[in-house]
Order: sequence, then C-alpha cells, then structure tokens
Amino acid sequence: MSEETQFDLVVIGSGPGGYVAAIRGAQLGLKTAIIEKEDNLGGTCLNVGCIPSKALLHSTEMYHFAGHGATEHGIDLTNLSISIEKLMAKKSKTVDQLRNGVKHLMKTNKIKVFSGLGSLEGQSKVRIRATGKDLAIEGKHIILATGSSTIELPFLKFDGKTVVSSDQAIAFDQVPAKLAVVGAGAIGLELGSVWARLGAKVDVIEFLPAIAPTFDKDVSKMAERLFKKQGLNFHLQTKVTGIKKSKGTHILTAEKGDKTIEFEVDKVLVAVGRKPYTEGLGLETVGITTDDKGRITVDAHYKTTADGVYAIGDVIPGPMLAHKAEEEAVACVERIAGQAGHVNYDVIPNVIYTEPEISSVGITEAQAKEQGIAIKSGKFNFAGNGRAIASDGTDGFVKVIADKATDKLLGVQIIGKGASELIASAVTHMEYGGSAEDIARTIHAHPTMSEALKEAAMAVDGNSIHSA
Ligand code: NAI
Repeated sequence: MSEETQFDLVVIGSGPGGYVAAIRGAQLGLKTAIIEKEDNLGGTCLNVGCIPSKALLHSTEMYHFAGHGATEHGIDLTNLSISIEKLMAKKSKTVDQLRNGVKHLMKTNKIKVFSGLGSLEGQSKVRIRATGKDLAIEGKHIILATGSSTIELPFLKFDGKTVVSSDQAIAFDQVPAKLAVVGAGAIGLELGSVWARLGAKVDVIEFLPAIAPTFDKDVSKMAERLFKKQGLNFHLQTKVTGIKKSKGTHILTAEKGDKTIEFEVDKVLVAVGRKPYTEGLGLETVGITTDDKGRITVDAHYKTTADGVYAIGDVIPGPMLAHKAEEEAVACVERIAGQAGHVNYDVIPNVIYTEPEISSVGITEAQAKEQGIAIKSGKFNFAGNGRAIASDGTDGFVKVIADKATDKLLGVQIIGKGASELIASAVTHMEYGGSAEDIARTIHAHPTMSEALKEAAMAVDGNSIHSA
C-alpha cells in the first residue's frame, strides 16, 4: 500500500463538523484525509443551509426596508424592483467565496481531500467510491461527520417542484404566488420570511400551539405577532394531511381540531426537521449501533461502538447546529491526540435569523420549572433602549433567568434586532459560570442594543434603571 492511502485521521464528511475536525487534526500533527461525496466542500451549512439562507435573508431584508421603511428616513425609492436572478447570483457568490475558503484551508493545512462516497469496510478501512474510481484507504482514527438530511412526510413526498425541501426553497427561480410552509421552526420561519418579503402569500402550518416552540413562550408569542405584521399567516395546532391536484392547481389539506382546512398552493416547503445521514456508510461492517432515531451511539468522548471510529455533529444526539458540530469536532480530535477536549452542552446558543432575530442560551423559565429549579427573572424591552429607538429596533426584549438562591445565570432569551450577536456575551458569562449580577455590573457601551442585556440582568433583582 502506498503512503498516500494511510492516514492517522480520516474524516468522512466535510461540513462544519468534518472540515473543522480535519483542520484540528492537522494542527495537532495528525496526517489527515477528508472525504466528501458532493462536488463541493462545506456540507449542508455552507452549500444549502446556513450560508445561502443568510445571504437571502440579508438581501430580502434590505428589499423589505426599501419598500416599507425607507420613506420615513427620507429615502425615495420609487419604482423599486428586484431581480430574482441577481438575488440568487449574489447568494451563489457568497457560497462560492466560502467554498473556496474551505478548499484553501484544506490546502494550507496539508489535508488530503478525496472526492467520493466514503464508507467503512472493516477495522480502520474506508472505501471511497466515485464515478470511475474506487479506492481503499486506512485511518488509525476515523471520524464520521456525515450530517443530516431533510425529513420527508409520508403523505407529502418531495417532488422537487411543488413539494420541496429547503434545498430547493433557497433556489426558486421566481417568487411563488402562494407558498405553504410546513413547520414553524428555524427553517420554516427563515425561508417563509424570505419569500414573504419578496411578495409570496405565505401560510405557515405548525403542529404545536406556538411558533419557534423551543424558545421561551413570551418570545414565541411576540415573534408570532411581529411576523404576522410582516405578512406571514400562521395556522397553529394544525396537522397537514396531504396534497391533491384539482383543476390544474395544488390543494394542501390540513386538519385543525375537527375542521378540515384547504390551502391552494404553488409550492409547499416541508421544514419539519432533519434526520441523521448514515446511508451507505457501512456502519454494520464494524458493528456500530444507532438509536431509535438513527443517530450513531457515542460515549462522552465521541467513540462509537467500533474501535477507532468516532462520530460528531448532526449524526449523533443533540441539537443539529453547525456550531455544536464544530465544538464536537475540536473536542473529539483533541481527545484522539491525548488532550482534554470538552463541550459544554449547557451553553449552546440557538438562533433564528428572522427580522427581528431570535436567540437563546441555557434553559427557559418553563424548563426550569420542569426541572424543579427555583429561579428569578428579569426582562427589558428594547423600547426603552436609546440605540434601538435611533435605529428602528424597538421590537423585542431580553429575558434573563438566574438561580433564585445563587444568582447563577441559567438562561437568556432575546428577540430583537441583532439578537444573534447579542447572545454571545450571555454565552460567555454562562461559560464562566457568571451570575446575573456579573452582567449587571459589566460596563456596556452607550448607546448600544447590548445595554438591554445589562438592564434585563439588573431587572433580575429589580434594579433596572430604564424600565418604565
Ligand atoms: P425544527 O425542528 O427547527 O422545526 C420543525 C418544526 O416543524 C417544529 O416546530 C415542529 O413542531 C414542526 N412539525 C413537525 N412535524 C410537523 C407536521 N407534520 N406538521 C406541522 N408541523 C410539524 O426543524 P427545521 O426548521 O426543519 O430545521 C431542521 C434542523 O436544522 C433543526 O435542528 C434546526 O435547528 C437546524 N437549523 C438551524 C438553523 C439556525 O440555527 N438558524 C437554521 C435552519 C436549520
């Protein structure tokens, strides 16, 4: 066997989990290879997920502002128009730039990149299949970072044209007149917002009684009210039952209680979650087990049930988030290299990039109650924040919850402009085991939106200065 096929570390999958694992491995002196079955590195997040959706959200937010808020600032934009072709070209340019960035990082870190479908083939062996090519390589350590794929509803199968996943909904070539979105989670709300801003009539159908149901209930309620004003129509506690064709149009059927509802649709985006992707991975060849949700079983150090094989990211239990995968990648490789990598699962931020944005870290009031933790909380509305008033950001609030006895920070929820950035400081305070008072006594620049976090922390003990 030539040297080129023997590695210390072989990573299967090049998403944020996989490529970060490869870079950390190379940094720690491991001879590293990465295998990717798609044409480009970067996985779902970079190619069809986080990055293209953020590019579309940014462009359409500007368009929405131009059409709705600009005149109030004295900006005259009569004859406003938008070209979907150019909008998509701008998105593709962003994605291309980052694809090249990952490629460059593989090169500078001397990581060998293999194109093809990687699968386990017994102890330490990985086969790579690509059109016209079949290669076997060996890795002393193998990391599975194959990510996830969209969940399909049995009565609403993807056809790529009318019933679509987020993969297609980031690339429509025209604005659908009537778009139904099944699921009011991160994808449903983000892509629903994009197409509503561009003029589609958007109906969001959610099974549960709240949108963004994993967030604090006050956040969900405010989000629903604000997104309704932006034109999103919500149908909560509603169960989609199927789709039928009638007189040349498509009718989506749903049930709310004992009522049947019908929606005439041009497109249906199904965004009801994702499932671990392990197809063709050869788990059985080394005896790797999965749980009832198809997630690879791992121990606290990401070891699977097979010697020398590890798994990280969406393919193992935990929130399916790029930053969670990245942290696991670093921790897993550091453990392989004999270091003490660790992920703090209590402090993983979660963001929905709508306008306003929604972000959180730690537990909600409801979770504290479920867990029997006595808490105190403080809330501050952006309406009382000078910077928010000066920059059209008064919608929303920050809520801080802390342990009643010790004041230790347990969770922060934010709905408001720039919430994705604001949450970082709460995450840092929590990572260091900080208290609400620690935030309250930290100086925040004035005028900034971040002062709302400080004020919410002050409100935990009734000391907010600017609360009305
Ligand atoms: P999700 O799990 O965030 O939301 C799915 C929603 O669909 C839930 O509210 C659920 O109650 C609802 N639902 C499930 N079955 C339904 C049915 N039959 N009818 C109506 N509603 C139904 O899943 P989503 O939005 O598809 O995202 C997939 C994954 O990707 C998630 O883990 C998410 O966290 C991640 N992601 C994260 C983003 C971010 O961090 N901003 C952006 C996009 C995705």
